[in-house]
Amino acid sequence: MDGALGYLSRSAVGRQDGTRLEKMSKASLDRFLGGAYRTVGVGLRSVARGFATQVDLRTERFAGGKTKSMSPSPSTPAAPHSTSAAQLTAFAPNSTIAVPQTSGTPAPMAAVPLLDVTRTNAEIRDEVLQLWAQIYDQGGFIGGPHVKNLEAELARVCESRHAIACASGSDALVLALMAAGIEPGDEVICPAFTFFATASAVWRLGATPVFADIDPLTFNMDPVHVRSLINNHTKAIIPVHLFGLACDMSAFREICETEDLWLIEDCAQSIGARFQGQAVGSIGDIGCFSFYPSKNLGGFGDGGFMTANDDQVAAQLRIFANHGMTETYRHEYVGLNSRLDSLQAAALWIKCRQLDSLAEQRRANVARYQALFADCKLDSVLGLPTEPANCFHVWNQYTIRIPDGRRDEIKAALAERKIGAAVYYPTPLSRQRCFASLGYPEGSLPHTERACGEVLSLPVFPGLTHSEQDRVVASLHEAWHSQSRLRAAG
Ligand SMILES: Cc1ncc(COP(=O)(O)O)c(C=O)c1O
Repeated sequence: MDGALGYLSRSAVGRQDGTRLEKMSKASLDRFLGGAYRTVGVGLRSVARGFATQVDLRTERFAGGKTKSMSPSPSTPAAPHSTSAAQLTAFAPNSTIAVPQTSGTPAPMAAVPLLDVTRTNAEIRDEVLQLWAQIYDQGGFIGGPHVKNLEAELARVCESRHAIACASGSDALVLALMAAGIEPGDEVICPAFTFFATASAVWRLGATPVFADIDPLTFNMDPVHVRSLINNHTKAIIPVHLFGLACDMSAFREICETEDLWLIEDCAQSIGARFQGQAVGSIGDIGCFSFYPSKNLGGFGDGGFMTANDDQVAAQLRIFANHGMTETYRHEYVGLNSRLDSLQAAALWIKCRQLDSLAEQRRANVARYQALFADCKLDSVLGLPTEPANCFHVWNQYTIRIPDGRRDEIKAALAERKIGAAVYYPTPLSRQRCFASLGYPEGSLPHTERACGEVLSLPVFPGLTHSEQDRVVASLHEAWHSQSRLRAAG
């Protein structure tokens, strides 16, 4: 019977907040699950360990100073840019798992948020408030040592010679394009499957965003399509390391070197991610990052920064972020007022300490999702995201595909069960009204358009509990099978 497939690992339930559940009687567990259960063999703990061992490719490598021509490719041979879901979930020895029947009255379930930043922010609360009180009393709210300290730490984390703080990730992109000299008439290639800011930055400077399709496996921009879009007007490429996964940067670097184009990395969702051991933001000419609270280094308001290895490029970024001022009240250019507040910088400097642990928690959550979905065999019907062998994924989003036009119904069913889920992104940028004049009819970016109709991001934030994760998978399982039954009946 389809509905009797397992979805909840008891060993996993007992590991964190679910200790109480582990101790439950069979009858009360039965009530929690909303049906009878039986046990089958699956080894979640080993799966999680196996995942971490298999995918952790980090190497300690400082990218060093780079100029426009960029550093040579690392000698590590490029592994294929894909890993199947089967590979990620293939190592499952035995343990026990509780299996619900999906018939009967659904059990009431507590809400699971898509994101809760308060849980891990609570760990540094006292330290942040203390430092904020000091700044409050001293009155230094702009610039100063807190911004400098943060920039030094960010440069270290991103393995870049320079990090320059600014007011947002959106500003970082505009400033990067300004430093690249992008102007009206220029074309900049970027994906249409990304947040609006990637393309709006190009538009704001009077240049034309040229949209490339994505690789359906990674959701990242497809270098083969990018190459086909290059012409005499092309000045730059913006690969977006979407959802925390690095793009195929060896391909983009090669394209930019041979075509003499600027390579601007949109790292807003991917601080800490790596491609062939190299930190994102240190591979192209400029890296653009966001501190928007939902990001992996989420701030306490808006903020962002840029990375660069070239001294001149970094100096230019600083000038553009400070009204284009080269000396006090001497303006060589018209720049922006794009600063990060000292209060923000001070808190983020403290939060940097958490960065590795936050990424590890996200990775552990993903390993667990992969195992739970395999347990209940949903891995064969849903498209689960994967981590290419040459990448270190930091999972800003855990985004699955729901096929057969069922995504919106499943999302609604999850909402009924109080499970947070979101669609990033429902509409390709190429199909946004504000870009209608660019002329991308339906069907021009087929992989992007298909992804927009299928993707659903599930809670993966650090601090998500095991029992919450179990509820996400249980609810999805239940929604999928009750919908399948309705479809079969109708
Ligand atoms: C891919 C991408 N680029 C740029 C941005 C812009 O960052 P911010 O919100 O800090 O302006 C975001 C933020 O959501 C993003 O996800």
